[in-house]
Amino acid sequence: KNLAIFASGSGSNAERIAEYFLDSEDVNIKLILCNNPQAGVIQRAERLNIPLVLFDRAQFKSDYVVNTLKENGIDWVILAGFLWLIPQNLVEAFPNKIINIHPALLPKFGGKGMYGHFVHEAVVANKETESGITIHYVNEHYDEGGIIFQASYPVLPTDTHEDVAKKGQVLEHKHFPEVIDKLIHS
Ligand code: GRF
Repeated sequence: KNLAIFASGSGSNAERIAEYFLDSEDVNIKLILCNNPQAGVIQRAERLNIPLVLFDRAQFKSDYVVNTLKENGIDWVILAGFLWLIPQNLVEAFPNKIINIHPALLPKFGGKGMYGHFVHEAVVANKETESGITIHYVNEHYDEGGIIFQASYPVLPTDTHEDVAKKGQVLEHKHFPEVIDKLIHS
């Protein structure tokens, strides 16, 4: 099974997934794709020796990205901190094979604009007593695909949005690779 990982930022989830499948017999992280030439994931891909494909909005909207995935025999598309809405042509090319992780308990704190620190600031501002992560299928709307997995953690009144983000990343790094593993072998 060939996996492609899309990332727009640091890429810590991409790295965790790559490490998890490093010795796998049947799972290969074939490509990392990125829309941000400044993203930290670029250095991680180099270090991990995983081919990196950088693309811009025009290429993303065209069939360039879909064709790249098809040419590489990609079976599953993993979004790990990827910030653009997935276009219809990509959703249609990989039905029920595109998975995303969101740093909140969807449907709460989801949708356009709710990413990264904005999510955690909203959780703190809302005085939530818990938050968490959601792993879900991707369709052409932000954060609305079927939910695959959720895990939660307590939010304390003293927590800053950084504290909340840290608790989420611990759960992401623990669960995302395992959830992907179970899904692609189910
Ligand atoms: C994670 O918090 C993830 O939930 C969200 O974006 C962040 C990506 O972090 N979608 P990283 O780039 O994997 O370190």
